[in-house]
Parts: sequence; structure tokens; C-alpha cells
Amino acid sequence: MQPWYGLINQYRDFLPVSGETPVITLNEGNTPLIRASRLNEVLDEEINLYFKYEGSNPSGSFKDRGMTLAISKAVEDGSRAVICASTGNTSASASAYSAKAGIGAIVLIPEGKIALGKLAQALIHGAMVLQVEGNFDDALRIVKELVERHPFALVNSLNPFRIEGQKTAAFEICDQLGAAPDYHVLPVGNAGNITAYWKGYREYRDAGRINSLPKMLGFQAAGAAPIVTGRPVERPETVATAIRIGNPASWKGALAARDESGGLIESVTDEEIINAYKLIASREGIFCEPASAATLAGVIKLSKRKFFSKGDTVVCTLTGNGLKDSDSALQLSGPPVKVRAEITAVEELLKGCCL
Ligand code: F0G
Repeated sequence: MQPWYGLINQYRDFLPVSGETPVITLNEGNTPLIRASRLNEVLDEEINLYFKYEGSNPSGSFKDRGMTLAISKAVEDGSRAVICASTGNTSASASAYSAKAGIGAIVLIPEGKIALGKLAQALIHGAMVLQVEGNFDDALRIVKELVERHPFALVNSLNPFRIEGQKTAAFEICDQLGAAPDYHVLPVGNAGNITAYWKGYREYRDAGRINSLPKMLGFQAAGAAPIVTGRPVERPETVATAIRIGNPASWKGALAARDESGGLIESVTDEEIINAYKLIASREGIFCEPASAATLAGVIKLSKRKFFSKGDTVVCTLTGNGLKDSDSALQLSGPPVKVRAEITAVEELLKGCCL
């Protein structure tokens, strides 16, 4: 087996790097593609369902793919500090890669609306963390204005290097499956990732590595679904805080991915997201974030209306690690049962339970 040195090393020929580019890597990428095996009962159709588990990246989300490239290029350009607005994961990743590079990171997050694990990551990596009294869209607006005035490198997905790095997930899936899937399913927030995957699939096809393209299926949370409704949402709300975005930066990229691939972008309710979140954890053994579960919620919804065909290969990207947002898991599970420290008391409670 070849050792893995990160995705810039692996997919260098497809990326805008040269021999001069300093490679800032945490050996991201090479994430597992896991075949779902216990979800047949909740699906109305027989499909081959896979999860691309991006929670196993070094900072626990897919953002690391874009960040290794964005930070490497920022260092190559001589930047001393990077800046981003974030619902949490971008800030965690930017902070980690900036720490590795030895440059500063400034992150603007919506006050009180990011999962605690993500906040902890940004803080412990030494970023300057500013909680904006507003939402993600407010934070991004300010960041965009700041980079006009100050020499900070912007590392939101408006930075094309982020998209370049993130497209490598599509390459990996094709390498892992030996072909492109029939459908690729993503949660949509700021819409950078769906834009990136579509670019990746097209480039792999153009390079002759695959000979078909998947249809791209995007899902937004019902309370934060501007692309579905066709207009910005002023006060986006959803349990899936990672995709609590009312005015996505890559709106056009998402529409192009949808239309060029013959796919769709729809919404799923918080209830559907929570149901899928629990199913992925309890039936497949994968702990992802609520936002990631919008993918399975979408697949369940589509299978109810017989959208797929028998045997279709469907890949859902699970964008982030559930440990980042343990609060959500705890709230939805309820507290553990308390018991006296005696075997008889424990046995009493175990009666009728899996024995
Ligand atoms: N899933 C997770 C876990 C995310 O953190 C994000 C975006 C998405 C899905 C949506 O991806 O924005 O490319 O459409 N998080 C960004 C952040 C906005 O700041 O961490 P997208």
C-alpha cells in the first residue's frame, strides 16, 4: 500500500500547485466510503447507498480539503494571516491549518449558533475568534469588506483554491467505486461543496478517468432554503447550524451543478434531518453532524416518491463529525439511566433488554 501524504500530494496533477508551493497538510483526504447495510427498511427502493465520511478528516470535516490548498497558496503568496466567516467548520479548519503553517487566523462566527466542539477547535488552535451579533450572512458580508481594506487572505469558499481542494472528494469516490456514482447527494449551505464536487466529476470525466457523470442532488434545511425558494432568507433557522445560511456565496455554482447534471435541490425539514441523523448513528454506526444527515433525509424523501431506479449507486457525503456537536446528540437522546452501584440493581434494569 502507498503511504498517504494528503490530497495535494495525491492529486497534484489536477491542482493549481507548482514545485514552489509550500504544502501545508495534515494528511487530509483518503476518507472512507462506507456501504450502508441496514437502511433497506427505511428506503422504498433497492439502491446501493454509500456514505463518504468526511468526518474522518483531521479537523473533522470536509473543509480540510479546501483548506490545505487555500492555506498553502496563502503562504506561497506571503500572507501573514487568513480570515473567514463560518458556521463553525470552516473556522475550525482554517484555525488548524493556520496553526500548522505558523500564520494568524481570524474567524467571525454567528454568536451562540455554532456547535461547541467547533468553537473549542478554533480557540485551542489559537485563532482570533469574534462572535458577531448576527448570522453567518452578516459575518460573511463584514469579512468580504475587511479583505478589501486589509491584507488578510480570505479563506471562505469564495476563494477558488477552496473549491479546487474540495473537488478531490469526487476523485476519491470515483477511485473507490471504480466509476462515478449515479447520484451524488450533498447538504447545501454556502453551496461551495456542491460546486466543487461537480467540478471534480467533470474534470475526472474530461481526463478519461470516468465515463459518466452523476446527477447532483442538494438538500437545504427547510428554514434555510434560499436556493429552493429562489430568494435570500433573512432569518435562516434550523437545527443543522452548519447550513444555517440565507444567502449562499456559491448560489450560481449550485444551480449550475443542479442543471448541468440533471439533478435537483430541495429542502428537508428539521424533523426529517433529526430522524436521518439518528438512523445513520443507530443503524450504520456513523456519527455525523445534523447538517450531514440532510443527505439521507433527502434520499428517504425521494425514495418515497420512487425517484431512483433499482440498483442505482447513490453516494451521500457526511460532511462533518458528530463529535463536534455532542450537544445535539445528547439533547436528542435524553440522559443515560442512573443506577445504584450493585449488580442486582443493574440486572433489574437489564430485564427485557437485549438479554
Ligand atoms: N455540512 C457541514 C458540516 C458544513 O459545515 C457545511 C458548511 C455544509 C455541510 C455545507 O457546505 O457551505 O459548501 O454548501 N459549513 C460552512 C462553515 C458554511 O462555515 O463551516 P457548503
